[in-house]
Amino acid sequence: MNLKKKKIKFGFGTYGIGEKKSRNFCSEKSRIYFLNKVYEEGVFFFDTAEDYHKGFSEYLLGKAFKKNDEVVIATKISPINYKKNILQSINESLRRLNRDRIDIIQLHWPNYNVDDLKIIESLYEAFSMKKIKYVGLCNVTKKYLDRFLKLSMGKLKIKIIQNEYNLFERSVEEKLLNFCKKKKINFLAYSPFGSSKQVNKIFSSVHIKEISEVFRLKPSQVILQWLSYNGAIPIFQTSNLSNLKENIMFDSRIISTDFFEKINKEFEVKVVKVLPIEIQIVESFSGKFYTNIEQAKKNIYNFSPSPMEVAMEIKENDILKPIKLKKTRSGYSLYEGQLRYWGWVLAYGNNSPIEAIIE
Ligand SMILES: NC(=O)c1ccc[n+]([C@@H]2O[C@H](COP(=O)([O-])OP(=O)(O)OC[C@H]3O[C@@H](n4cnc5c(N)ncnc54)[C@H](OP(=O)(O)O)[C@@H]3O)[C@@H](O)[C@H]2O)c1
Repeated sequence: MNLKKKKIKFGFGTYGIGEKKSRNFCSEKSRIYFLNKVYEEGVFFFDTAEDYHKGFSEYLLGKAFKKNDEVVIATKISPINYKKNILQSINESLRRLNRDRIDIIQLHWPNYNVDDLKIIESLYEAFSMKKIKYVGLCNVTKKYLDRFLKLSMGKLKIKIIQNEYNLFERSVEEKLLNFCKKKKINFLAYSPFGSSKQVNKIFSSVHIKEISEVFRLKPSQVILQWLSYNGAIPIFQTSNLSNLKENIMFDSRIISTDFFEKINKEFEVKVVKVLPIEIQIVESFSGKFYTNIEQAKKNIYNFSPSPMEVAMEIKENDILKPIKLKKTRSGYSLYEGQLRYWGWVLAYGNNSPIEAIIE
């Protein structure tokens, strides 16, 4: 498909469909069937990653859309593989996706242990070999993107930026969104309905419900329209066909500007500065969390990027987004952003306040 001619309005995220222990899909066949349904309903843009369930999401896309050139697939290379051979990663994705060329290859996260120029060279090599068409970057700050664009000197076709953006995470509004607009790069919003802990909160918002009633829309459609109004292309996932149908119809009615401004105000995110020393790490983070700086330095859980890499990233290119905290009797507890927290502490120590959102 020629992406120059076709405008991407929304995309389908494939993290969930590849989950091995899924409540919604019992077999490979049912997952492939669902992906085909998603396509039949009008979705042509799919987001995936080599890292999603060890390539299983890519594999499913490869099975579902083997000979379908109308389907655009954007996959991602994991930062751990920038060190090894990027071409090898691309070849493995191509094999799983059943394709000769990847429409859009994205760097999943910056990796400060690897020279960006080297990454650019490898991507250019893959481009010259017709293994990739466009490039995308995920989880970046405006500063990082600006630098990457200058380094690549127009050699790569940088088509998309993909960051978290929803009613509760609006950091991109400060600089990145406008910068993308200026550079004519598509901005993709992942987790449009919030992180897994916030989905219910977004859908039960009184304000969103009110607007839905006025405009006879579903809450999901109000949220997706709001993102689109602010210049983002939402990438959503669902395991439910009626939710999917709702989502893809989101731009069929127009909400007036003053309502969008109302939402902008109602959901204004208050970012505060908190001393890391006041923050406790008590949440489980799926059982993998560090409670002191030595553990974070050693990175025994092999997080990629590691806290040390995040620290370098923060020093060079700003913190990606605020961490999320809950108020406790004695201070705060961390519930989202463990790597950013440890990266900050490793970069600036315990007595330098970090940006945070208190839930
Ligand atoms: N680049 C990155 O680093 C990165 C990071 C995270 C995610 N992503 C991409 O973004 C995609 C989506 O992100 P996400 O999974 O975090 O969030 P999301 O799309 O905001 O989805 C959250 C949940 O909302 C529910 N939902 C969807 N439509 C709904 C509707 N109309 N009504 C009620 N509930 C609805 C879905 O559950 P049901 O199944 O019950 O509908 C889904 O599990 C991922 O699959 C992945 O491709 C990229």
